[in-house]
Amino acid sequence: MDRGLIDRHSAPVPRYTSYPTAPHFHAGVDGATYARWLAESPSGASVSLYLHIPFCDRLCWFCACHTKQVLRYEPIATYLEALHAEIATVAARLGRRRVTAIHLGGGSPTMLAPDDVDRLGEALRLAFAIDENCEASLEVDTNDVDAEKLGAWRRFGITRASFGVQDFDPAVQQAINRYQSFAQTAEAVEGFRERGVGSVNLDVLYGLPDQTMETLANTLDQVISLAPDRIALFGYAHVPWMKKHQRLIDEARLPDRHQRFAQARLGAAMLSGAGYVPIGLDHFARPGDGLARAQDEGRLRRNFQGYTTDTADMLVGIGASSISRLPQGYTQNVTATADYKRAALAGRLPIVRGYALTEADKAAAWVIEELMCAFGFSADRLRDLFPAEAERLVAGAEAVVRSDADRFVRWEDGRFLVTERGRPFVRTIAARFDGFLKQNEQRHSIAV
Ligand SMILES: C[S@@+](CC[C@H](N)C(=O)[O-])C[C@H]1O[C@@H](n2cnc3c(N)ncnc32)[C@H](O)[C@@H]1O
Ligand code: SF4
Repeated sequence: MDRGLIDRHSAPVPRYTSYPTAPHFHAGVDGATYARWLAESPSGASVSLYLHIPFCDRLCWFCACHTKQVLRYEPIATYLEALHAEIATVAARLGRRRVTAIHLGGGSPTMLAPDDVDRLGEALRLAFAIDENCEASLEVDTNDVDAEKLGAWRRFGITRASFGVQDFDPAVQQAINRYQSFAQTAEAVEGFRERGVGSVNLDVLYGLPDQTMETLANTLDQVISLAPDRIALFGYAHVPWMKKHQRLIDEARLPDRHQRFAQARLGAAMLSGAGYVPIGLDHFARPGDGLARAQDEGRLRRNFQGYTTDTADMLVGIGASSISRLPQGYTQNVTATADYKRAALAGRLPIVRGYALTEADKAAAWVIEELMCAFGFSADRLRDLFPAEAERLVAGAEAVVRSDADRFVRWEDGRFLVTERGRPFVRTIAARFDGFLKQNEQRHSIAV
């Protein structure tokens, strides 16, 4: 790959897990707006739930998630009271809606005690009509796994377990303060599989301090030996201005953008060689997996958790910092756990910011999601969906093609397409349709 190409196109851009991105949310959208939006939703609308557990028993220096290290269980227990209060408040406004997907993320939801997992399952079944085929996914910290907890998660109905690996090399683990052996990971994966959890995802990172082509290749060999259904290969996002503990990482030991690019390429080649299908920008799935089928059939979606098959009408986020996506727009809960507990326990919807989508935003959001998921969009489909907005966006796409010196994009049969060569830079191409980027320059992570 031409080094100049990487230099020209690696300027920081968003990861586009939403459009507009969270930095553009504002306090004009509050709990009252959210209550109105919930009340307006049609009774047949399906719901996907995201529950956030912002606690871990370790603090990995690379981590960009909203979490904090706790050494006692008491903060988790009081947080859960607030979480139950918010579930009741939302359900009272929404009614007993059909839930088709549940995602437990963090932090490390596996910190929850078995009794609390049981209570949470009961509360959700009481508040919502959980679909028979509901997908329930859980982010697992292998440190937390034992037989009692595994039993509780089986009773909860977990169908997919997602494990953070990052890199198995001891030197890399030391550089990011995260210690996790292959044997421990294999045992945790086996534990969930033995309890009938049918789908396993493993997260691997590239671009970590002291990471080399060799450590990444060894890690991926070990990951592949566990035969996961899905693998996410994310580029490490170094954003120490947002995540202060990332300052503990020695920047001199980070791979440069060319090394990052080579690592991403190596990872993609190894995973494809092992029979995995590349999904969007950074996921890989076995050919028969739901993500691979969704991609084949043009049903792949992108949300705050990355690539997904979730097509629920509304995504309801519960817990500190959670984001909800409703047809009308986005809302976000307060981040500080003390503020969250106070608001939720008082029976308030703990919203502090959000964004009401205009028709122009919805059209740009559709284009960006299509680019991130399908590496292209049909001009006619855009015209059908957003007649008043389509010509402006099509003209924008034409301008992108005209100014494209690097053969990243082209028109083909009425579709704006990202070429093979352009795919690694799809975030940069999507950014050309982002009406907010110039207004308010936000700092993001490097694009490759
Ligand atoms: C909530 S954690 C996964 C569950 C569990 N807490 C663990 O660490 O094993 C979610 C995933 O986000 C990814 N992640 C966290 N910080 C990141 C960063 N700065 N850049 C890229 N990916 C990151 C990691 O791959 C991590 O596995
Ligand atoms: S990577 Fe996982 S375990 Fe480590 S701090 Fe982040 S959320 Fe916690």
